[in-house]
Amino acid sequence: MPSVTYVEANGASHTVDVAVGENVMRGALYNGIEGIAGECGGAASCATCHCYVDPAWTEKVGGPADEVEEELLEATACPPTSASRLSCQIIMSDALDGLIVHLPERQF
Ligand code: FES
Repeated sequence: MPSVTYVEANGASHTVDVAVGENVMRGALYNGIEGIAGECGGAASCATCHCYVDPAWTEKVGGPADEVEEELLEATACPPTSASRLSCQIIMSDALDGLIVHLPERQF
């Protein structure tokens, strides 16, 4: 099973297995990782699953946020950057084994 490393804003790092086909937001929730809320359940309508994709992984996750994501990312609690993505929109695959995402200080 591929793994994802979630790095909290305070530097704490958690590497967990996330099943192929599952999204990165749920991977955090299922493993009790603080820093991702996922209020809408992954429907791309809340932006409380904001994360910053490590630069080494930008292209592998499908590139930067598309227009729909960008619109939502304007409403995040922490300022979005060019690395910002909605973690619910990143679907795990074997190609993403080792993915690193950084979490914002807060989601609300
Ligand atoms: S969980 Fe709501 S936008 Fe990702």
